[in-house]
Amino acid sequence: MTADPTTPTIALHGLTKRYGVGDAEHTVLDNIDLTIEKGEFIAIMGPSGCGKTTLLNILGLLDRADEGIYKLDGKSVKSLSGGRHSRIRSEQIGFVFQNFNLIPRMNVIENVALPLTYSGYRHTKRLQLARASHVIMEELSDIHKRGNTIIMVTHNPSLTTYASRVITMNDGRIDTDTKVPREAKKIADDKRPLSASTKKPAKKAKKPKKAPKKKTAKKSEDK
Ligand SMILES: Nc1ncnc2c1ncn2[C@@H]1O[C@H](COP(=O)(O)OP(=O)(O)O)[C@@H](O)[C@H]1O
Ligand SMILES: [Mg+2]
Repeated sequence: MTADPTTPTIALHGLTKRYGVGDAEHTVLDNIDLTIEKGEFIAIMGPSGCGKTTLLNILGLLDRADEGIYKLDGKSVKSLSGGRHSRIRSEQIGFVFQNFNLIPRMNVIENVALPLTYSGYRHTKRLQLARASHVIMEELSDIHKRGNTIIMVTHNPSLTTYASRVITMNDGRIDTDTKVPREAKKIADDKRPLSASTKKPAKKAKKPKKAPKKKTAKKSEDK
């Protein structure tokens, strides 16, 4: 990461990705320009096949563009070796897979992020699907509040209330790009009671663990 905090986390210029050759050639990402600042929470929406997954795969260094520039923390990724890509992936980028959608969250320290993610998934199994999405979103919001950049794909418009910016894609291009005003986001945050309701069961679950600790203490007292 660069020391300069004003350097965008992601800067794309004319990013293009094609699949197939000859008559079968298909432009999946068509000359995309996009800047994502450090600490943004981006929701990407758009119809199936518009290029969302392809874009995330490139941003997450799982795939490479055919043309254009992708600067990550101010440095073009094209000049970096495959080994350097792997290292950035493991140290700076986290991935959450949900219903075949890929959600990279940038600059997350893996050992902090992964337990949160897995606890999110444990909740998922106990809760209804719509609620589970919000549980995962609460985990992502916590990660975001710690200063990480989040980019997620969703088909669920209600989940965009967690985002600071909503981007819609269509046919390999960015269609709309809307910053969510802070006030609107605050109202949405206040309306969601899920933050408290998801955290309470976790605390309750931890309580029984305290009992064995007391036993250990007693044992040492007996000595
Ligand atoms: N590996 C691939 N080979 C050929 N075509 C692909 C490949 N991956 C994706 N595509 C095509 O690229 C387009 C965009 O796909 P994708 O990025 O998965 O869209 P979305 O995630 O928005 O549904 C689709 O037409 C899809 O069929
Ligand atoms: Mg997809």
